[in-house]
Amino acid sequence: MILIGRERSDGDSARVHVSVLADEVVAVFASPDAPRDGWIVDGTVGVGGHAARVLDACPSLRVLGVDQDPEVLPLAQANLARFGERARVRRGRVSMLDELLDDEGIERVVGWLLDLGASSLQLDRRERGFSFASDGPLDMRMDPDRERTAADIVNTWDENDLADLFYHEGGETRSRKVAHAIVELRRRAPFRRTLALADVVSRAVGRGAAGDIHPATRVFQALRRAVNEEGEELVRGLEAAQRWLVDGGRLVVISFHSGEDGVVKRFLSEADAGGAFRILTKKPLRPSALEARANPRSRSASLRAAVRVRPRLRGSAAEVRG
Ligand SMILES: C[S@@+](CC[C@H](N)C(=O)[O-])C[C@H]1O[C@@H](n2cnc3c(N)ncnc32)[C@H](O)[C@@H]1O
Repeated sequence: MILIGRERSDGDSARVHVSVLADEVVAVFASPDAPRDGWIVDGTVGVGGHAARVLDACPSLRVLGVDQDPEVLPLAQANLARFGERARVRRGRVSMLDELLDDEGIERVVGWLLDLGASSLQLDRRERGFSFASDGPLDMRMDPDRERTAADIVNTWDENDLADLFYHEGGETRSRKVAHAIVELRRRAPFRRTLALADVVSRAVGRGAAGDIHPATRVFQALRRAVNEEGEELVRGLEAAQRWLVDGGRLVVISFHSGEDGVVKRFLSEADAGGAFRILTKKPLRPSALEARANPRSRSASLRAAVRVRPRLRGSAAEVRG
C-alpha cells in the first residue's frame, strides 16, 4: 500500500492507492526465463506501487514510469527516488510512449505494464469530479490539459449518442431512459456537479436495478472512459508494446471493465495466432478472495500477460523488428 495523503477534515477519504494483483505482476517480470536486463515501461505508473515492487524484485531492471496526471507524478517520483537511476518518471499518455521512449534514448524494452483506469487518488478526490458519492465539478479528466470534460459531454451530446455511450462503455441497460432524463433536465440548466447527475441517473435507473452497486456506477464509468478516450489509449498502448518489446519481453495488462478486458483478449488471441505473442494467461488472473476483501476496488480486475515472440532471421540470431 502506498500512502499518499492524510485523511482530510472535510471528509475526503484517506488517499491511499493499493496496487492491484501486485504479486502476480512481479511474478511475470521476475520469472526465471524473462529477460534480466533492460527497461520496463510502466505506461500508467500512478504513484509507482507496481513499479517499486518490480524494481525491488528485479535488481537489473529499470523502469520508465509514465502518467498523464501531473498530480501523481511527484508522488511517483518520491516513491521511486530510492531506486536512483533505475527509475525515470515522465508525464505523458500511453498513446505518446513511442515519442517518450525515443526522447529518453531507450531501446531495450523487456517489459510493458498497463494498469488501466483511474487511481484512488483520482477517484477519492471530489474536486476531480469522478465521484457519484461526494459532490464535485463534473470533470473526470485524468489529464487536466484535455479540453473536454464530463460536463461537456452530458450537456452537448445528443440523446442517442449519450444512450449509446452509456450502453457500450458502461453496460447500462437502461441507457435510453437515462439519456432521455438527462436531455429533459439540461433544458432547464446545464449539469455542473456530480451529485446532480448521479441523482438524475439513480432515479432513471431505479435503485433495485443496479444490484449491489450504486445506480450511477455504469453511467459514470462510461463518461470517464469517453472523457479520457480510454478505448483508443488502450489500443495504442497494445500496438506500441508489440513494436517495442524485445524477443521474450513480457506484456502485462490489468483491466477493470469487461469491454476493456475483451479488447486485450482479442488483441492477444490474434497476436498469439499470428506468432507475435505467446499468451501466458489462458484465463485472466483475478484477485484472491483475500485481496478482494482487503481492497474492494480490486474486485473487477483481470490480468492478462503474454511473451513477445520475434522471428529470427534465417541463419542468423539477429532479431528482426516488426
Ligand atoms: C490504476 S492507476 C495505476 C496505479 C499504479 N500501477 C500503482 O501501482 O501505483 C492508473 C493510473 O494510470 C493513469 N492513466 C490512465 N490512463 C492513462 C493513459 N492513457 N496514459 C497515461 N496515464 C494513464 C492514471 O492517471 C492513473 O494515475
